Amino acid sequence: MHFELLRATPNKWVEMVFKDFDSFLSDHASSEKKASGMALSVAAHYPDKPKIVSAMVDLAVEELSHYRQVIHLILSRGLHPRPDSQDTYVKKLNSAIRRGPDFFLIDRLLIGGIIEKRGSERFSLVAQKFAQTEPTISHFYTTITASEERHYSLFLELALDACGNEAELFDRLKELLELEANLIEELPTRAALH
Ligand SMILES: [Fe+2]
Ligand SMILES: [Fe+2]
Repeated sequence: MHFELLRATPNKWVEMVFKDFDSFLSDHASSEKKASGMALSVAAHYPDKPKIVSAMVDLAVEELSHYRQVIHLILSRGLHPRPDSQDTYVKKLNSAIRRGPDFFLIDRLLIGGIIEKRGSERFSLVAQKFAQTEPTISHFYTTITASEERHYSLFLELALDACGNEAELFDRLKELLELEANLIEELPTRAALH
């Protein structure tokens, strides 16, 4: 199973990240920490679903390991992590989660998959941008790209499991992808993951 994002990240985003990489790194660290917390909160919400609990606990550990790596990268550059800033992109996506037990988990997993897919796309852009000037950074972001791509597949697989109906799932996915594409177009471009 596979899906594509409906809108590619604009070039000005990667240029902005390149110019203010310190801000980007700090935000990236925050995003990994939040992703770990989000995975734990999904696990805690579904104690009766062993597949979800197992996958989310493993994911939480992996995202926390990403957080650790980004923090060490920040410190090695003589910088300090900055306070978390509000992630309007994630907040707006989460506000589309439908209430009711039948939909809540499916939407949460689909949105998780979309966020991972966008993360993977953007980390890949960062890896390419730094390929010539900072090979170590580029290599790090290539590794992160592959990891977030795996997370995207995991969320999609869990969503299909939770839904059980591929056609219904893809209808909902399409709606969420359209929302996501609008957010990419409308939200201000920042030297941040979103
Ligand atoms: Fe991550
Ligand atoms: Fe991830």
